[in-house]
Amino acid sequence: MPSVLIKTYGCQMNERDSEQVASMFLAGGYTLTTDEAEADVILINTCAVREKAELKALGKMGLLCARPDAKPWVVYGFMGCMVQSRAQSLFRDINRLDVVTGTRQYHNVYAICNRLLKSRLGMGLTEPLKRGAHICEVGEVEGFQNEIRDHLPPSGGCTAFVSIMQGCEMRCSYCIVPSTRGAECSRPAADIIKEVRELVDHGGVKEVTLLGQIVNRYGREEPVVNGRGAFVRLLESLHDIDGLERLRFTSPHPIGFREDLVNAYTYLPKLCSHIHFPMQSGSDRILQLMRRPYKNEKYLRLCDAMREARPDLAITTDIIVGFPGETDEDYQQTKAAVERVQFDNAFVFQYSPRRDTVAAAMPDQICLRVKEERNHDLLETVNRIATARNMALVGTEQSILVEGPSKSNPDRQQGRSSQNKPVIIQKGKAEVGKIVPVRITECTGFTLYGEVGN
Ligand code: SAH
Ligand code: SF4
Ligand code: F3S
Repeated sequence: MPSVLIKTYGCQMNERDSEQVASMFLAGGYTLTTDEAEADVILINTCAVREKAELKALGKMGLLCARPDAKPWVVYGFMGCMVQSRAQSLFRDINRLDVVTGTRQYHNVYAICNRLLKSRLGMGLTEPLKRGAHICEVGEVEGFQNEIRDHLPPSGGCTAFVSIMQGCEMRCSYCIVPSTRGAECSRPAADIIKEVRELVDHGGVKEVTLLGQIVNRYGREEPVVNGRGAFVRLLESLHDIDGLERLRFTSPHPIGFREDLVNAYTYLPKLCSHIHFPMQSGSDRILQLMRRPYKNEKYLRLCDAMREARPDLAITTDIIVGFPGETDEDYQQTKAAVERVQFDNAFVFQYSPRRDTVAAAMPDQICLRVKEERNHDLLETVNRIATARNMALVGTEQSILVEGPSKSNPDRQQGRSSQNKPVIIQKGKAEVGKIVPVRITECTGFTLYGEVGN
């Protein structure tokens, strides 16, 4: 039986896309492996959002293709966002690469690789090839937004990602995603509901995370019904599914974030008490240069309104430091906004110029030293606040969805709270897939420890 290794960089959307590809290989009789020496097909699903992400994928593939002891017939492929933006040019960087497929071709990856592998196995190769097959597929296939719908068979996991839309049309001046993921396109609600129902009924799934670049723009061409937009109506329909216990979504955007979504936190108890809500900057001047169509005040107002609707809501965010032209004053405004919101956590990114984006050509690019200083300084603030917020949970009772053995200590189990915080508990006290009450007893920065109650 041939085997495939799929390595994934980037966001949850890439993880989800990789799962779709993996399920097609499984259906074709392949096994999934994590062993590089064993694999007959090696695929890397790439991210292009920052330069570092691209360099990682290129470096990894370069090493894999150069292995002198590899099986001679191995098929090497890149998929995903970096391919969509670099296509053929990747073959110049790695000559031995066989296949590159873009973000609207995931459902074709299996057929392309399988055909290539079968023909190579029939050739009786004895020496590793010097040059790859150089097959490049980056076009758009009609209906592709509804092609990411197959899941891997359940393996004890009780959580799943569900893609509800593809693409992004916002054109934030720093961001490569609109060019790697194409136009915004929502899936029909009926298909999404069916997919979630199957995951719950046959996959043992208890928690679903809906994915989209701007999830709250889901179905925005549809009419508002009884004050509720298409996204909130989708949340309501999914909430009705028996056996589904938790509902999450990522990422929302202040644009089109209306009262109906704020209110959803008051009457949809399955909607978890966590939102990952990218702020990007606390300076209106920088937000404008970023082409983010909101002022910091609107962002803060939304956070307040959501916390009013759901007092224990955990808010996490994305922040870019060192955007072109960012002065120390702009940066201080970002820091002040972080203090003001009291985030439960934040990803702080140093601005990375991306090809064919407006910001990459802006004057006043910030030097690496300043970016690093701001990154380091902001992380200190973020970590201090996050630790304090976690400490405040000691002594409280939280509902934990038990997910499996702890990664750092296999003698314990790990779960997550509704606020999406990892909690370590004793083993043998609760079954995987169950939601149990846990008293938080200890906190070491980002990890909480607790005891399962009755
Ligand atoms: N669609 C989401 C973000 C997806 S990209 C949204 O708009 O909220 C994930 C994060 O990567 C962004 O929130 C941003 O903080 C960061 N990012 C995107 N482009 C970047 C760049 N060129 N340099 C540094 N960080 C970037
Ligand atoms: Fe990128 Fe902006 Fe679209 Fe998010 S909304 S994916 S940051 S262009
Ligand atoms: Fe990266 Fe593409 Fe996601 S660029 S962040 S993998 S949408």
